[in-house]
Amino acid sequence: MLSVVVLISGSGSNLLALLKASENPLYPAKIVAVGSDKDAAGLAHAELFEVDTFVVEPERFANRDQWAKTLLANVLHHQPDLVVLAGFMKILPASFVTALRGKLINTHPSLLPQFPGAHAVRDALTAGVTKTGVTIHKVDEGVDTGEIIIQQEIYVEPGDTEQTLHERIKVVERELLVSTVEDIASRRIVLV
Ligand code: GAR
Repeated sequence: MLSVVVLISGSGSNLLALLKASENPLYPAKIVAVGSDKDAAGLAHAELFEVDTFVVEPERFANRDQWAKTLLANVLHHQPDLVVLAGFMKILPASFVTALRGKLINTHPSLLPQFPGAHAVRDALTAGVTKTGVTIHKVDEGVDTGEIIIQQEIYVEPGDTEQTLHERIKVVERELLVSTVEDIASRRIVLV
């Protein structure tokens, strides 16, 4: 059984999909804790599923490295085999990434390397592309630059807004994340 820590910053719909999947005894991964950089709405999903939560707010620390050190300590406390960034919107320093090398993945709402960063859906609409998508990738020291594990395309429809397009992306993203974590657990995907 793969032990998974999920980090979120927002509504946590990807987290909820993972929590629901892991209720199935045949699903080979278990969410052991959920962390956030703020009092994110999605933490309520973890509480409902009786999964441990932790919040480590950057504002409470003198600098980013101290914040990341405490975040890492909270993650490692749960001895995860895998750490999933599922809408975690803070950039993590190299020390955090190095400590979790081979165990850290991120889900991102674009076809990387197109549109990295915090506004991927807005940037895709502004660029006028006809298709975008979702990418699940390994995390390295850059911003959304790690090796791509899997991608899925989604067509932009006439009249799409950032919200309608992102919602359609998230429908696909949730399924892709659940199946990717399953594939990592069953070693159909090997991270190192
Ligand atoms: C997801 O679409 C995720 O890919 C994106 O935030 C959303 C979180 O949704 N992450 C990024 O943009 C990271 N750069 P959720 O809170 O409903 O799971």
